[in-house]
Amino acid sequence: MRSVSKESNRANGISSYERPLPSRRLGHKKPMTLTSKTEECLERLQEAGPPRREDLIALLSLRDEKALQPLFFAADARRKETVGDVVHLRGIVEFSNYCERNCLYCGLRQANRQLKRYRMTDREILEAAFAVKRANIGTLVLQSGEDPFYDAEKLCRLIESIKRETGLVITLSLGERPREEYQAFRQAGADRYLLKHETASPSLYHRLRPGSRLENRLTCLGWLKDLGFETGSGNMVGLPGQDAAVLADDISLIDSLNADMAGIGPFLPHPQTPLSSCPPGEVLPVLTILALVRLTRPVIHLPATTAMSVLHPEGRLKALASGANVFMPDFTPPAYRRLYDLYPGRSADSGDPLSILDLLEKELNRYGRTILP
Ligand code: 5AD
Ligand code: SF4
Repeated sequence: MRSVSKESNRANGISSYERPLPSRRLGHKKPMTLTSKTEECLERLQEAGPPRREDLIALLSLRDEKALQPLFFAADARRKETVGDVVHLRGIVEFSNYCERNCLYCGLRQANRQLKRYRMTDREILEAAFAVKRANIGTLVLQSGEDPFYDAEKLCRLIESIKRETGLVITLSLGERPREEYQAFRQAGADRYLLKHETASPSLYHRLRPGSRLENRLTCLGWLKDLGFETGSGNMVGLPGQDAAVLADDISLIDSLNADMAGIGPFLPHPQTPLSSCPPGEVLPVLTILALVRLTRPVIHLPATTAMSVLHPEGRLKALASGANVFMPDFTPPAYRRLYDLYPGRSADSGDPLSILDLLEKELNRYGRTILP
């Protein structure tokens, strides 16, 4: 049993972008009718082999919830068959909000001088890792901006001490690094690495991440796989300039990378970035992509992201009912957590992680799902 002090935190965060969605109970009812085209696309997608781009585009072009029900239903059933009803937990610690990059969408971009920067000490990081362990969670995710202050030597020392003292499975999410550094992290005891490809369009990638190339990102992902990391990729949904064909390529890329995990969430405009006036991504397209990824890569781990609950109060639960099977409670100490300002609304999800987990567990139990540390 988790010990919980209060129930005042909402399991699903706030909803600054909340907009009405047709009501849908979690745990989809079997849809009565399918158009023959949707049915054909769905059947082909569930066959072995890479997904057909036309099928993905056809399904991504369905925009109303009713037409999408068969897809959500199929993905939820496939999730149940392959990874089961358990929701896996990963405790995340965001240990530095310094970043050398200037991604157009991200509040941590170097050019955002309004953001107060922080770096956690080794002691604070280790304390946070112990908090994850005390919560009975088996995996720690260490995330930061691309911050050269933490060189390979510092990071290896940290990984070794966390491994030695907590025995947790360690996932890193530190961005692009030279191959030798990834190798050193692996030798020091890191098990998994998250490096979202962000968008599968090379031109959009280059535009949104000045000075970076998708090709280099993919090279890094190849190194990580070769070095024996379980790897995670993923993308944002609703980026300016992204269409159904690009999203189809995101899904195919996750498949061809053999990703063990994919972090997929909506783009949310941050006021201190060049994309501040762009519209946010929407819930339905994210659910559609989660469902399509679940069908094309049945055993993948798919987190229900915080960004989904920023978009809609039930966003995370909806994700868990459309193919997702992972939840990542935030164990960054609260004073730092509000400074890890990737997109607006994140800090509203800043309750005590144990309370958030307790509420989530109660919600999930109503739908026959359980939590697995
Ligand atoms: N909206 C949604 N996700 C974002 N990220 C960064 N900025 C935003 C934003 N404005 C995500 C990226 C990155 C991760 C650290 O945060 O996908 O991989
Ligand atoms: Fe830095 Fe990552 Fe944000 Fe880009 S997305 S500015 S690399 S933290």
